[in-house]
Amino acid sequence: MQTPSGHPVESTSAKRLVVLASGGGSNLAALLAAHDDAAYGARVVGVVTDNPAAGALDLAHDAGVASVVVSPKDFHDRSAWNDGISEAVAVFLPDYVVLAGFMRILAPSFVRRYEGRLVNTHPALLPSFPGAHGVRDALAHGVKVTGCTVHLVDEGVDTGPIIAQSAVPVLDGDDEGMLHERIKIAERALLVETVGRIAREGLYVAGRQVTIG
Ligand code: GRF
Repeated sequence: MQTPSGHPVESTSAKRLVVLASGGGSNLAALLAAHDDAAYGARVVGVVTDNPAAGALDLAHDAGVASVVVSPKDFHDRSAWNDGISEAVAVFLPDYVVLAGFMRILAPSFVRRYEGRLVNTHPALLPSFPGAHGVRDALAHGVKVTGCTVHLVDEGVDTGPIIAQSAVPVLDGDDEGMLHERIKIAERALLVETVGRIAREGLYVAGRQVTIG
């Protein structure tokens, strides 16, 4: 949907997404590319980062989306930083919060506040290879197939209920960078598809079983 001047108009029914990202932001870019289509059902209304140099900030700016830097360096301790993140996200009144390459652990209070509405993408087939080095660990283990996982966040590290997964073969000669780039192609597609479906159809959670629609 667009105004006569060509600017996108927020659909009243679109779910409000706040995206947290620490790095280059290619997953954010994929969500921003999807959200201009009113039929997508979700719209990125805010971007929050812990990293003042995050590429995500430029992407948000170019897309006309508000962004906030909440750097741990600006807070006297971890608890104060977490309160800062929590407030920065809350002002956008999100329906869903998407962690798209957000490389810090959020406090249990944040996780509880957005329980069932906090979605993470991880570059491995969970429950294998959780943590910050999912691609490196999969490669070191010698697996022949890895991939990506979109999951709800609980208070553990990459332990929440799985929403969707996509497999990516490991090829002879792969190094971490090569494999991660191929995973990220699958990851962007999976994240965009999954978040859109959640926004349009709703998410039903029974223990570890998650169903969309
Ligand atoms: C993704 O693979 C994400 O799962 C991982 O870091 C990468 C972030 O990529 N935690 P980008 O910043 O979205 O390009």
